[in-house]
Amino acid sequence: MRLPPQVSSLLLLTCLIPFTQAVASANSVARNLQNIESVRTIKDIQRQISQLAAFGLYANISLLFAPNGTFQVLAPTNSSSTPYTISTTITGRAAIAAFLIQDAGLMNGIAPGSMDIWITETPLVNLEVDSQGLGQRAKGRWNGIRFQGDGKGGTRLRGGIYENEYVYLGKEGWKVDVLRYYGMYEGEGEYKDGWRNVGGNGLGRVKYHMTPDGAGVPVPGFYEGIEEIVDGDMDVDIEELEKRVQRLNDEDEVRNLMHSHGYYVDRRMWTDVVDLHSSNTSVTVRGEGGGNFTGPAGVRKVLERMGPENLTQGINNDHPILDMIVEVDPNGREAVARGIEIGMIGDANNKTARWEFNVFRNGFVKGQGVWKVKHVDITPLIVADYHEGWGYGGLKTPNMYTPPFLNTSRPRSTSPSTSTRRAAKKDPNLDNLQRRLAKALAFDAAENLSTAYGYFLDDLDCSLMGSLFASLGHKASPFAGFYSTPTRITDACFASWGHTNTSSLRSGISYHWRPQPVILVSSDGRSATLRARLLQPNTALDKPGAFNSAMYHDQMVLENGIWRLWSVTIDEFYWTSSSWAGGWSNATLRNDSTPDPEPAGWTKKYPPDLSIKDVGDREAGFRGGSGRYVEWPMIQRMWFQYRNLVSGRTPEWFWEGCVPCRVRRDWALEENGYQEPPSGPVVGDGTRR
Ligand SMILES: *[C@@H]1O[C@H](CO)[C@@H](O)[C@H](O)[C@H]1NC(C)=O
Ligand SMILES: *[C@@H]1O[C@H](CO)[C@@H](O)[C@H](O)[C@H]1NC(C)=O
Ligand SMILES: *[C@@H]1O[C@H](CO)[C@@H](O)[C@H](O)[C@H]1NC(C)=O
Ligand SMILES: *[C@@H]1O[C@H](CO)[C@@H](O)[C@H](O)[C@H]1NC(C)=O
Ligand SMILES: *[C@@H]1O[C@H](CO)[C@@H](O)[C@H](O)[C@H]1NC(C)=O
Ligand SMILES: *[C@@H]1O[C@H](CO)[C@@H](O)[C@H](O)[C@H]1NC(C)=O
Ligand SMILES: *[C@@H]1O[C@H](CO)[C@@H](O)[C@H](O)[C@H]1NC(C)=O
Ligand SMILES: *[C@@H]1O[C@H](CO)[C@@H](O)[C@H](O)[C@H]1NC(C)=O
Ligand SMILES: *[C@@H]1O[C@H](CO)[C@@H](O)[C@H](O)[C@H]1NC(C)=O
Ligand SMILES: *[C@@H]1O[C@H](CO)[C@@H](O)[C@H](O)[C@H]1NC(C)=O
Ligand SMILES: *[C@@H]1O[C@H](CO)[C@@H](O)[C@H](O)[C@H]1NC(C)=O
Ligand SMILES: *[C@@H]1O[C@H](CO)[C@@H](O)[C@H](O)[C@H]1NC(C)=O
Repeated sequence: MRLPPQVSSLLLLTCLIPFTQAVASANSVARNLQNIESVRTIKDIQRQISQLAAFGLYANISLLFAPNGTFQVLAPTNSSSTPYTISTTITGRAAIAAFLIQDAGLMNGIAPGSMDIWITETPLVNLEVDSQGLGQRAKGRWNGIRFQGDGKGGTRLRGGIYENEYVYLGKEGWKVDVLRYYGMYEGEGEYKDGWRNVGGNGLGRVKYHMTPDGAGVPVPGFYEGIEEIVDGDMDVDIEELEKRVQRLNDEDEVRNLMHSHGYYVDRRMWTDVVDLHSSNTSVTVRGEGGGNFTGPAGVRKVLERMGPENLTQGINNDHPILDMIVEVDPNGREAVARGIEIGMIGDANNKTARWEFNVFRNGFVKGQGVWKVKHVDITPLIVADYHEGWGYGGLKTPNMYTPPFLNTSRPRSTSPSTSTRRAAKKDPNLDNLQRRLAKALAFDAAENLSTAYGYFLDDLDCSLMGSLFASLGHKASPFAGFYSTPTRITDACFASWGHTNTSSLRSGISYHWRPQPVILVSSDGRSATLRARLLQPNTALDKPGAFNSAMYHDQMVLENGIWRLWSVTIDEFYWTSSSWAGGWSNATLRNDSTPDPEPAGWTKKYPPDLSIKDVGDREAGFRGGSGRYVEWPMIQRMWFQYRNLVSGRTPEWFWEGCVPCRVRRDWALEENGYQEPPSGPVVGDGTRR
């Protein structure tokens, strides 16, 4: 029997998208879209606070709060029953502005040589919907670290966790209702003293607003077909919906592009960086020693000022990208990304190192369906010798330029309710739209799961961490091997860390920040690949904390309406700090005759399903893997899950799919009813090149 074309394409779409039990209605698409836009706006508002602080714009920050909004600081008490107590509560915009100005003092990014780099990263945002299914309030957990200096030698470092609340105020849009900062580590006075636990106290867990299941449910009702649980019509214009969904998909591509750009810069993969640029590209580096560079040759030239292509022993060129806001122009062909970049640069051969605190504001163009970098514009705020620190204003003339901000108060949509062409109740295009929306949602869900994993691991909460995994998911335990299924993943964590009492205080914490994600979503929106940095500040009672760096290679899936971790591999470490005083460049080459470290002792009692050695060449060089252990300042191989996202160039170390899947084929997504997400450039919606 021949079906009319409309019906057969409808059937085809329905089998491609098993999660839409019912055909999407215009109302449900409009609601889901609005909720996803809300999640992103909330993240952008928090990032905007960071960006404004770098220029001392505290009064502008206060306008991102609700008129009755609250700024609260909590400090550790050294008591396990109530580990934190409120030390400051400020309510109302004017009072918040006054407090922030007074609190910053001369460390405000305005006074010559001063600095206020206030990072909030790794968002976990939870939307609360009303009876219409629309988000009206939200909670967000963030990691924070704040680097300040007064230009006269004084420095201040503060780190901890935010558990914030946000509220939707109609015309005014989303605002911060309560910003709740749990201060966990700090250092004030001289740079060389670094930071320690606040008050010399033991640290308790900061109560979660999330549950493991919740972390995988991006917007309530999305996969159930929300139209069944709410009544009421929204006025929707299908063309408007299409444009807004496209904008989300474009934003994701620009994020991936910029974050990949960053990873290539870190490894000095100059050819790959240049590949990401358009032929008409340009680079501006502002301030002393800056300049303008045009075309691919100009890009290469400015990159080579950092050093020759590729890393050699002892070189660290990391530039983590943080608090990036992306704005896609309504024309759909141009975009801007503004964010903060912290250079953690060093040379272990002569034990030199430096900090760079930069703001970037880059432009992008889309041509033939692919986004490319059109312009890089870098404003260095402070460049400082690592050992001297940024307190004296660094090595260069103070910056006087403020790169224009993006406006996070501008609504993402033009006018969702002035409808010209109303959607038919059951329009087959809507299923396609719902699928593209599902791809955008997968992006947020993957980031959410990734950060939830980091937060549970910070607290060594093995049960919650294990519950984030799919029923057949697997995870690498560092230096040991891979464990499959949530139960075994949890038990491996217990075997490694012991049954820690999650309500007792700890003398120190290693934080698992997972910023700068590159997230590639399958065309059906049911699986994703995620690459993220592990940026690991740590704190202790009795000595200053420091940073380490590693790389995650993960996959996520949608299982029974909840996003779960499918595969997690950590490649560690690329560099470590010997101490705060020594930093990342005080690394000594391992003696050639030192035997390689044995796999962790606990693995004898609780053997993995697959050892790191069993994985073969892919994990060779990492601790526990085959071959000689490669330890910083030697350079570990850096693996990529994707080819160059513009040119398709294959990186030297390329590994498609999950890390152990060439040995355990049965662990591959495709063997389990999921699509393998793209591992290279994607043109438009889903075509591989
Ligand atoms: C900050 O506030 C001032 C004064 O209200 C205003 O002129 C300026 O445009 C604001 N800047 C930003 C980036 O919000
Ligand atoms: C401020 O007002 C809003 C709207 O009236 C309300 O939802 C919110 O809870 C209030 N916030 C605080 C901190 O009282
Ligand atoms: C915190 O509590 C521990 C254990 O009771 C105690 O040894 C320590 O001195 C306390 N620290 C402070 C700063 O009070
Ligand atoms: C993130 O996790 C929270 C907390 O579990 C959950 O409520 C929220 O829906 C998730 N958000 C996204 C965007 O995935
Ligand atoms: C190249 O960029 C310049 C400056 O942005 C612009 O004026 C010019 O039209 C561009 N040329 C092409 C071919 O895109
Ligand atoms: C580079 O370009 C910027 C922006 O157009 C301009 O302000 C600056 O003076 C130029 N710098 C140099 C060194 O030419
Ligand atoms: C850098 O490494 C890549 C990949 O191995 C190689 O193709 C390229 O020639 C290297 N560049 C230099 C300057 O050695
Ligand atoms: C250390 O080595 C770097 C090259 O990596 C060089 O630029 C720098 O001048 C050297 N510094 C000292 C103090 O030798
Ligand atoms: C940002 O956009 C909003 C809404 O369009 C507008 O009211 C506000 O003035 C803009 N802010 C700045 C600093 O341009
Ligand atoms: C966990 O620690 C808390 C606080 O130290 C204590 O009250 C509680 O009894 C401990 N629980 C277990 C099971 O040991
Ligand atoms: C560098 O490391 C060595 C060996 O671990 C140590 O003795 C030295 O104190 C460190 N230097 C600094 C500045 O911390
Ligand atoms: C390396 O270790 C061997 C054996 O412990 C020792 O004899 C040798 O002196 C060490 N070499 C260096 C450079 O430290």
